[in-house]
Amino acid sequence: MKALILSGGKGTRLRPLTYTGAKQLVPVANQPILWYGIISIVATGIRDIGIVISPETGEEVKSKTGDGSRFGAKITYILQEEAAGLAHAVKVAQPFLQDSPFVMYLGDNLIQSDLIQFLEAFQSQQLDALILLRPVSNPSAFGVAKVDANGRVLQLIEKPRNPPSNLALVGIYFFANSIHRAIAQIQPSARGELEITDAIQNLIDQKKHVEASQLQGWWLDTGKKDDLLEANRIILDTCLTSNLQGTVDERSQVIGRVQIDPGTQVINCTIRGPVIIGKDCYLENCFIGPYSSIADGVTLIDADLEHSVILQGAKVIGVHQRIVDSVIGQRAHLGQAPRRPKALRFMIGDDSQVDLV
Ligand code: G1P
Repeated sequence: MKALILSGGKGTRLRPLTYTGAKQLVPVANQPILWYGIISIVATGIRDIGIVISPETGEEVKSKTGDGSRFGAKITYILQEEAAGLAHAVKVAQPFLQDSPFVMYLGDNLIQSDLIQFLEAFQSQQLDALILLRPVSNPSAFGVAKVDANGRVLQLIEKPRNPPSNLALVGIYFFANSIHRAIAQIQPSARGELEITDAIQNLIDQKKHVEASQLQGWWLDTGKKDDLLEANRIILDTCLTSNLQGTVDERSQVIGRVQIDPGTQVINCTIRGPVIIGKDCYLENCFIGPYSSIADGVTLIDADLEHSVILQGAKVIGVHQRIVDSVIGQRAHLGQAPRRPKALRFMIGDDSQVDLV
């Protein structure tokens, strides 16, 4: 059994963050989203992992993630020259996959469940494909399944205008090698991509053995800001343990589960967990409220924030209104304007979003 993680794509819904980096490397609780997928794959015992990368962000994914040794895995990088669809990515990865069955994992998906139960179901029933489904409120944004009363999949449609159900395809699939023949038979969709959804439909049409499991627990497709904040909240809520390695002065108050990494200085702050603060940060006169993740090298002075993600090297200085539900990009500066003339002054990147009171 092998694993194929897809880590290409343009990340349009997470702009502007994705102008300068891969969406799969955006951190959730200070760890790239992609790594959660790797960790859950390795937990099933699968060690041979291929990661499909794009020309735009591939080098960054490669240099951050490495050869897999830090996860106890062997990672092979596979370049997909053009963003021609998920099924196209499988085609490009065929020399790596060969005839092996594999789990395919979209690198921006995060789920609560362990993968092992699905892997066992896939293997014990000798399926051609096992898909995971979950009810959603906006099925048109996903691949959607029509199932019969017994939960058997009748039809799969990619991003349907009139969805036949509210069951979305989760971005985690288990395939036997018969998927390659199915991919060879499909045509590009209206958006010009070879859709994995169409390839699975082809398996169904060929009367191959396709089953669906309903996913319990949360599922997040972190390609959007609100899902990213929600993923951050859930991971901090469920996985964070207290660990104070930075220096915290005696005027500061640290309450609840808080991780502060080495080289970070905290002066006269109130930090109310769950909160994670990376290495080499400087925090002075701040309130850091629950569900905040602060990456390495961040400076926060006279700032008040909660339920927010602050990326590497950002600076927030002298902002006296509380910052909530926010994502602040790498090296961004947020500061106080000069007293006069009283005005707001911006230098905001393309596709940024600013909500003023
Ligand atoms: C892809 C799949 C879609 C699936 C979704 C899950 O969509 O094409 O069927 O429901 O992932 O995240 P995309 O995110 O590429 O638009």
